[in-house]
Amino acid sequence: MRCVLVGPPGCGKGTLSGSLIEKLQITHISTGDIFREHRATKSEFGQKIASYIDKGELVPDELVLDIVFDRLEKPDCAKGFIFDGFPRTVAQAEALQARLAKAGKPLDVVIAFSVPDEVLIQRLITRRVCPNCNAVYNIVNKPPKVENICDNCQHELVHRSDDHEEVIQNRLDSYRKSTAPLLDYYEKQNLLFNVDGSRGSMAVEKDVLDYIAKNGF
Ligand code: AP5
Repeated sequence: MRCVLVGPPGCGKGTLSGSLIEKLQITHISTGDIFREHRATKSEFGQKIASYIDKGELVPDELVLDIVFDRLEKPDCAKGFIFDGFPRTVAQAEALQARLAKAGKPLDVVIAFSVPDEVLIQRLITRRVCPNCNAVYNIVNKPPKVENICDNCQHELVHRSDDHEEVIQNRLDSYRKSTAPLLDYYEKQNLLFNVDGSRGSMAVEKDVLDYIAKNGF
């Protein structure tokens, strides 16, 4: 299955990806995770993108596309993939579409999340993530077994630097301005599956798995 997840920050893209990759044995490509890894290692690329992430602004398209298309060449993408956080602009979506068409492997589905802003803000303020294995927790509704320690790899959890209220507001603004137009773009191609992401993560996952099974992706 070749799939894109579209939705505002904190809607549950990373959480859903975590369960789908286990159940469907496909590859998770999160541009946010890739960028944070570069920033943590202070690579040349990481230094170029750090200020965008810290301010909650989108990284410019020309910096995003090369890194994503290199990732798509890796053998683990042949079995199918979930894009989480890419594409984020219509220009990125058009570039992806051209790239996949050339390979004869178009997208199967675009899953679009809707969640009210106040729920998103609350989820992001209470989110904790593992910088080592990228597992996602929430101190209110999905705490780790041992406080602030990752269940999977025992690394210390962190509160992402862009998960503070002023930056979250910028991320929501970027989403509305640059990413929300993708919903129209994919609707016109009949690829969109809308989910109400304000419900519990099990209900969201069930809707998506039912849709995938029904359509045989
Ligand atoms: P990125 O890392 O992609 O951040 P994002 O899109 O803002 O999404 P998040 O990771 O914050 O949220 P999520 O939807 O994955 O929610 P999660 O599952 O963790 O991007 C970061 C930055 O990188 C961007 O701002 C930009 O600068 C740059 N960037 C990345 N890609 C780019 C691109 N293509 N172009 C340009 N720039 C790019 O859940 C959130 C919390 O809620 C967790 O605590 C979770 O446990 C909880 N939760 C999840 N689902 C539920 C549920 N159903 N019920 C209750 N709680 C839930």
